[in-house]
Amino acid sequence: MSVEPGASVDWSALRAAAVEIARHAYAPYSRFRVGAAALVDDGRVVVGCNVENAAYGVTLCAECGLVSSLHAGGGGRLTHFVCVNGDDDVIMPCGRCRQLLWEHGGAELLVETPRGVLTMADVLPQAFGAEDLGQ
Ligand code: THU
Repeated sequence: MSVEPGASVDWSALRAAAVEIARHAYAPYSRFRVGAAALVDDGRVVVGCNVENAAYGVTLCAECGLVSSLHAGGGGRLTHFVCVNGDDDVIMPCGRCRQLLWEHGGAELLVETPRGVLTMADVLPQAFGAEDLGQ
């Protein structure tokens, strides 16, 4: 799936991509499947699902796979993001993954949440970022 840059964003199609990838989650411990999908500024759609581990703390959130796919596919900036659980409900990204999303989409990244579409600045107020390192 890809979207022409500048085209209006079809949130339901992006959500459908998240629902589809959630089916590929490896979540034998929590049984909580997560699928994440995002639009990239060049029109690509990148997705990821959670991948758990017997050493629980090593678990990879869906957003980790999505960001890895972003860079594996040539990089770019995330512009629109949504994640869902195994019941297809929109969920919020965890705290650590909000930081990941901030790094790759910044304050303007639009996030579909259970309370509607918000900016990353709403979702992660007063974020720590590259500028705090003087970059
Ligand atoms: N999980 C994600 O994949 N992303 C989030 O933003 C929230 C949590 C996963 C991690 C773990 O496999 C399961 O959900 C339960 O925490």
